Amino acid sequence: MDSIWSKTSKGKKRPSLEGDVRTDVAVIGGGMTGILTAWQLEQAGIHTVILEADQIGGGQTKNTTAKITSQHGMFCHRFLEKKGEEKARNYVQVNQEAVKEYNRIIMEEGIDCDLTECASYVYSSDGEKLRKETEAARKLGVNASFEAHIEITVSCAGAVIFPHQAAFHPLKFLEALARNLTVYEDTMVTEVRGHQVKTSCGSVRADKIIFAAHFPFINFPSMYFARMHQERSYVIALETEERLKGMYIGDGKETLSFRQYDKYLLLGGQAHRTGENRAGGQYEELKKAAEEMYPQSRVTACWSAQDCMTADEIPFIGRYSKERPDWYVATGFQKWGMSSAMVSALLLKDMVCGIQNPYEDVFAPSRFSAEELTQIIKDSGKAVKGLTKRFFHLPGETAAELLRGHGAVADTPQGKAGVYKTEEGKLCQVNIVCPHMGCELNWNPEELTWDCPCHGSRFDREGNLIDGPAREGICHE
Ligand code: FES
Repeated sequence: MDSIWSKTSKGKKRPSLEGDVRTDVAVIGGGMTGILTAWQLEQAGIHTVILEADQIGGGQTKNTTAKITSQHGMFCHRFLEKKGEEKARNYVQVNQEAVKEYNRIIMEEGIDCDLTECASYVYSSDGEKLRKETEAARKLGVNASFEAHIEITVSCAGAVIFPHQAAFHPLKFLEALARNLTVYEDTMVTEVRGHQVKTSCGSVRADKIIFAAHFPFINFPSMYFARMHQERSYVIALETEERLKGMYIGDGKETLSFRQYDKYLLLGGQAHRTGENRAGGQYEELKKAAEEMYPQSRVTACWSAQDCMTADEIPFIGRYSKERPDWYVATGFQKWGMSSAMVSALLLKDMVCGIQNPYEDVFAPSRFSAEELTQIIKDSGKAVKGLTKRFFHLPGETAAELLRGHGAVADTPQGKAGVYKTEEGKLCQVNIVCPHMGCELNWNPEELTWDCPCHGSRFDREGNLIDGPAREGICHE
């Protein structure tokens, strides 16, 4: 399912790595974070090589809603209470700077990426919460305001507004920014040892290595797999007469997101933990909401995104671990990939250049909070369940009984396996043991994928890897 961004842009094909090269910095991952970081480093005179397993923007960047905003939901009041004024202020301020930095780059480089300045709104049915959030945002230095009546037809008591935010076409921006960078595509990193990065088609020796490929796939040290979980969320693009001026998100879990791109209104929501697929269909729920709010609209694209979630809602940006002083990481962006990617680029550029950045401590991966401990205990329970499930979960049907277009863990002549029956009746059989750490995978009927409930790896119906931390597909049996 192609996003509106993939449907409306075409990236150029870049070569794969050949042989062995030497560079100052190797960036693993050619998404928004990797490209922005490499660009900032090159601007500072540091030679950087980007290694991308697929094609630039081909991971999560192509699936974003591409809102560039420092308004990360209803967070100001909560951050002020839980993290204290200094940390909360720094978090907001660096994200405000990230929004300005996108503007600066796009203007100075003359990038044609459909940039529009707009206000960002978070709506809620709780008037008191909105009042507190507005006050908190103002205390943290944002020129926020409250508005009782908003242009979308959701039931709410109003919204908190952050002015001067932005939205754009992420793939057009990425393609233009990558123009003068050294990028190797179809170059899958298979191993990182010290300063050596091995790939499927050559190797890179670098003074510094930056892990910017969504999920840091080296398990030890730092154990990022135990410190984050992954969530999926869904978007539909509607062709409608409506033209929204602002971009919106609701407060709470069961919420909807809105933004306009050209003649399309992007409606998002239905988030859930990866591997915990709901019955009923996420796209169907979004379409139902669209029918109620925009009865004249037509769905022209559907797609989904995967996000890494940290326990304290702040990304991990900085040194990978104290045992690996020349490795850096950027991950755990929650649902705020665009601003977090720019924050990562600015922080990591300074760290590599040896410049003290005032915001470094906020994002330091070495931090450890009480919230994280609670989350780790909760997630470990899920991991144990996922690991033991494969020993006790018996298949409910045989491969022959499976309906066309359906997948399930089924009994096969080779034993228990994951099976998908195509519309033509062909069986695609895979191993349902996740190659990351051995949990049993779940079938996702919405997207026809095999998803891991432990740390969020995903595989297509034929077993090819879509999302890590796993580094290989599930072998065809
Ligand atoms: Fe870790 Fe599957 S992603 S076990």
